[in-house]
Amino acid sequence: MQPYTTESITQVVIEQMSTTPDPRMKEIMESAVRHLHAFAREVQLTPAEWIKGIEFMTKVGQMCTPARQEFILLSDTVGLSALVNIMHDKTKMEEATEASLLGPFFRENTPRFEHGAQIAKATNGQEVVLFGRVTNAQGAPLRDAQVTVWQTAADGRYDIQKSLEEIDCRGIFRTDDKGNYLIRTVRPLGYFIPLDGPVGQMVMAQKRHGKRPAHIHFLISTPGYRELVTALYLAGDEHLEDDVVFGASGDLVAEVKANDPASPIPGVPSIHFDFSLARETEADRRAGRVGGDPGAITKGNGEASAPYGAPPPEMAAAEQKKKGILGGLFGR
Ligand code: BEZ
Ligand code: FE
Repeated sequence: MQPYTTESITQVVIEQMSTTPDPRMKEIMESAVRHLHAFAREVQLTPAEWIKGIEFMTKVGQMCTPARQEFILLSDTVGLSALVNIMHDKTKMEEATEASLLGPFFRENTPRFEHGAQIAKATNGQEVVLFGRVTNAQGAPLRDAQVTVWQTAADGRYDIQKSLEEIDCRGIFRTDDKGNYLIRTVRPLGYFIPLDGPVGQMVMAQKRHGKRPAHIHFLISTPGYRELVTALYLAGDEHLEDDVVFGASGDLVAEVKANDPASPIPGVPSIHFDFSLARETEADRRAGRVGGDPGAITKGNGEASAPYGAPPPEMAAAEQKKKGILGGLFGR
């Protein structure tokens, strides 16, 4: 047998994995191995650096709880989430409003409000009205579409950053017969992403500022249309161009106007933004949501399903059957 070389090892691994029955899993894993090996060769990764990377990923996993998804934060801060969003956006069947990051502060548990209701418990003199229409790609109104919003309170923090029970500055609305939505809220502030974990240590070691520009998240859906996960970024924020998670984009910048005559609530500063949705395809239904609810991903956090290092139950059962041949390799 020939010793492996720095080049041949990659092909040997890919050949061993070539038995993977799921074609998409095979494609993804082959490519991941090729790129991982190329990366290690390019930087001439040392054993000490490799173990440092393993320690870092371990800490990222240990930081995850039902309320906090440090892996999404890692993906966000290295631009992977933004890249996946941009690629997903390109597969829309028609021109419609651009997607943006879901972020770690989305919650399924969000109260429903009537048209025009205020979602902030305290306005601190910073009230803002959000209004506009939800239409299809041809501009026809979409009535009864669900419009979910969430954002920082006037103090610059999300409710969930204060306590798991707190619910503030998030709400579910529905569009009226003309496709209009109307929401009262407060002006959001730009803020630091959570920097108290391993991802924060990475961001700080890179001397990045760690801030997001002020924004308001939207999740808009109605049957037959691709769910729109997006955000509006406030014009004039100093970090529009260097968002630490690369979510801000020119088409999603919105101005707070002091006295917009089109606003349904005169005398209160307002943001006017019309959203359009693309029709949904079969592929959209399979592609999944742009982002994920951390609580849903980290279900059962802390409960080990099998002892560390043990084979999964179905593998152990199959091995049990073959015990005569393999001498109980997994069964002990
Ligand atoms: C946010 O939009 O709230 C967010 C997005 C990504 C990382 C951290 C925060
Ligand atoms: Fe956010």
